[in-house]
Amino acid sequence: MSAEPPAGASLDELRTAAADCRGCQLWEPATQTVFGRGPADAVMVLVGEQPGDVEDQRGAPFVGPAGRLLVGALEEAGIDKTSVYVTNAVKHFRFEQRGTRRIHQTPDVSHTAACVPWLRAELAVVRPSLVVLLGATAAKTLLGQDFRVTRQRGQLLDGPPGSGARLMATVHPSSILRTPPESRDEAHAAFVADLRTARAALTS
Ligand code: URA
Repeated sequence: MSAEPPAGASLDELRTAAADCRGCQLWEPATQTVFGRGPADAVMVLVGEQPGDVEDQRGAPFVGPAGRLLVGALEEAGIDKTSVYVTNAVKHFRFEQRGTRRIHQTPDVSHTAACVPWLRAELAVVRPSLVVLLGATAAKTLLGQDFRVTRQRGQLLDGPPGSGARLMATVHPSSILRTPPESRDEAHAAFVADLRTARAALTS
């Protein structure tokens, strides 16, 4: 079964090929590969960590609670959600089964390394001006394991030479859902501020 994206493929062809990926062991307990969604000519790509429980069942990225928060924040930042391409660093849900519950587990470097060819292939087709990395897993996947979102969030960084893309890391929307109620509004406002920086970067 394929573990590498076919060269020169369209997004639809990549999606079909990724459905059979056996590049790491996460495919087996997961329901399905959750590939990216959005326009092939999007100027902004958002990259999350991995599909969650809801995404795993529905086969689309960011359609669960974190996705709802993301859509609201995009709206507040003046970014049309239908104009962005949304994907994940890892395309299968990693979880631990506890009774009837499936508990999210952060993917490790072996999973991001196995999956990054698919993310790079998506970026090579879409060729966005800006890639927004949502959380540490996405940021470390494209910017290296030493990258710290806490130190460098909201900064516009150069993408790989020749890509024409800039990169910006911010927090993962799930982190806002986990923030204690007394500081959640502040965390949400900081996330929206980063997304406004991202929107402004598209016109600068
Ligand atoms: N969290 C992610 O990082 N991606 C999703 O698609 C859903 C939740």
